[in-house]
Amino acid sequence: MPLFLVHAALMAAGFLLVFSALIVAMTQRRKRWWLRIHKAIGLTGGSLLLLGAITAVAAVASTPEGHHLRTPHTWLGVLTISVAIIAPLLGLLQFKIPHKAGTIRVVHRFFGRLLNIIAPIAILLGLRVAEII
Ligand code: HEM
Ligand code: HEM
Repeated sequence: MPLFLVHAALMAAGFLLVFSALIVAMTQRRKRWWLRIHKAIGLTGGSLLLLGAITAVAAVASTPEGHHLRTPHTWLGVLTISVAIIAPLLGLLQFKIPHKAGTIRVVHRFFGRLLNIIAPIAILLGLRVAEII
């Protein structure tokens, strides 16, 4: 059980950071510091979500049944993690491929928003699987 709690804590912390990255990008763009902070909290949040996913796999593996990916929470979880990898990667990539920056920027915005919609749903489903709510 403690591993599942570590999983839940990492996911909650990761979500708070990627949500803050979204808020900074949407409301603080006139400030000189916005991109530095957006990048730092976006990358840290994404890393925490990834670490939380590794913890989930380890937690499930340590149960007697050990069956992976068997509930809607885990399926949405995989989608959330994929988006949590893609969104910050696109954020970085727009500076590496300048001639494609316009397109990458549009897709980055989409994935950044999508992440902040599906992550809280994954959290709610996780709390239900764990019978906390
Ligand atoms: C999971 C992490 C991230 C999330 C959720 C996220 C989300 C977003 C969102 C929603 C926007 C559009 C804001 C708006 O104008 O409405 C945005 C813009 C931007 N993000 Fe990120 N981002 C993340 C990570 C990063 C990283 C690592 C970088 C790398 C430097 C980055 C660079 C940018 C830039 C340059 C823009 C401005 C693009 C534009 O002109 O619209 N982002 N981000
Ligand atoms: C962004 C949030 C979250 C994501 C992306 C996520 C992702 C995942 C993934 C991918 C798995 C599958 C591991 C495997 O089958 O090997 C999993 C399992 C699990 N997660 Fe989460 N999780 C999140 C939040 C939470 C929260 C807040 C809780 C609450 C305690 C939680 C509880 C669980 C439980 C109990 C399992 C095992 C469920 C089962 O095997 O059916 N998760 N999670």
